[in-house]
Amino acid sequence: MKPTKATITFDNTLKPIELPVLSGTAGNDVIDIRALGKHGVFTYDPGFMSTASCGSQITFIDGEKGLLYHRGYPIEQLAEHCDFLEVSYLLMHGELPNATEKNEFTKTISGHTMLHDQLNNIFRGFRRDAHPMAVMIGVVGSMSAFYFDAMDVYNPQHRAISAHRLLAKIPTIAAWSYKYNSGQPFMYPKNSLNYAENFMHMMFATPCEEYTPNPVLAKAFEKILILHADHEQNASTSTVRLVGSSGANPFASIAAGIASLWGPAHGGANEATLQMLEEIGDVSRIDEFIKRAKDKTDTFRLMGFGHRVYRNMDPRAAIMRKTCHEVLNELGLQDDPMFKLAMELEKIALEDEYFVSRKLYPNVDFYSGIVMRAMGIPNSMFTAIFALARTAGWIAQWSEMNADPEHKIGRPRQLYTGEARREFMPIERRT
Ligand code: SDX
Repeated sequence: MKPTKATITFDNTLKPIELPVLSGTAGNDVIDIRALGKHGVFTYDPGFMSTASCGSQITFIDGEKGLLYHRGYPIEQLAEHCDFLEVSYLLMHGELPNATEKNEFTKTISGHTMLHDQLNNIFRGFRRDAHPMAVMIGVVGSMSAFYFDAMDVYNPQHRAISAHRLLAKIPTIAAWSYKYNSGQPFMYPKNSLNYAENFMHMMFATPCEEYTPNPVLAKAFEKILILHADHEQNASTSTVRLVGSSGANPFASIAAGIASLWGPAHGGANEATLQMLEEIGDVSRIDEFIKRAKDKTDTFRLMGFGHRVYRNMDPRAAIMRKTCHEVLNELGLQDDPMFKLAMELEKIALEDEYFVSRKLYPNVDFYSGIVMRAMGIPNSMFTAIFALARTAGWIAQWSEMNADPEHKIGRPRQLYTGEARREFMPIERRT
């Protein structure tokens, strides 16, 4: 029988506190502590290791079993059978689209792929060697200054228009961040191509010759987008919700999410994983790096390993490993030394007591860099592509929050450990 109440008792004169226990469709029950402040105590949970920040119906993760569902559908089935826009529609609307809905949605998104021509100038304000993530934060944030005709966050139509604009334009912004870096001219979207092919066109085509995306690589890229689309209340999604909870417009909220994703502990791990593999260089040096990863005096972490929620293999990592294989075979890179090194590193780590005892397994970032590098995508664009994909999840979560009549501005409290009250000290008396 599921609990309905929890009681907190204190080892002093504080009266016991009775709190409701809430159950969801799946996953842990939660103790509803909203009334706790009235009793003069807060909970303390830096990093929100055991805190549910919201109710949501979008994504469910079972970290122990390594399960990931979007609106109830297992990620393995979505990655196998859907394209990215179908999954985006599912995240936003709660159901997979029927044929008519899918055509409508695809047409709507295709109709918004171009940027306001003045936005080109925002790119030109950056140095040519600016990191694509810095450019994306800047350009997405500045969309607030161009698309302000639909920014009433409490108006469902406005939320839908801004969501469509973001989903449609983020590939253009990501690809142009790369083109700007490389000094090549921007390639405009080609709406006759599907979402993944269009991105590859804008990334790799030049005005000088026809470019036809390799269908195997486009399919693999589609899978990469699906695997990164949403992941419950991770750091960047929580950032989008917290920024959006103040009523901030969708472009400012998503720009904040991109900023959070950039960190190497989060979405920046795919770029960091490849840098780590390049630094290891050869299987003979794996033990040296495993040793460093275990050394508490060394800040080095095994990039692409471990996860706040998964205490089992990240289901996305297994699919990404398979996709990696397919892409390398398609490109005749079966003997890619980086892939072989990664597989050897995974094998050694998964046999090492330190990793096994802490349930540290490869996560989605462990193989994604190898696939993208094989596809000709530079390291610096890996997190930009993660941000491209996660925009679908961010706008779904942002919309869900704004549609929730109960939602409030996010305003955590703290455990204050600073100075108690003291009197002002005039400068002549300060030592
Ligand atoms: C993503 O949250 C999400 O859903 C994120 C994400 C998404 O889709 O949005 O899945 C995407 O961000 C995946 C994670 C990518 N990051 C990395 O690959 C970077 C390397 N991983 C670590 O930095 C770490 O595992 C985190 C940040 C991912 C999780 O850290 P936690 O949950 O805060 O765990 P922890 O740091 O408390 O680690 C527990 C123990 C510690 O050792 P002890 O104190 O018990 O001795 O495990 C150790 C850690 O030192 N540990 C690692 C390690 N990860 C954890 N030791 C070496 N190498 C690692 N990678």
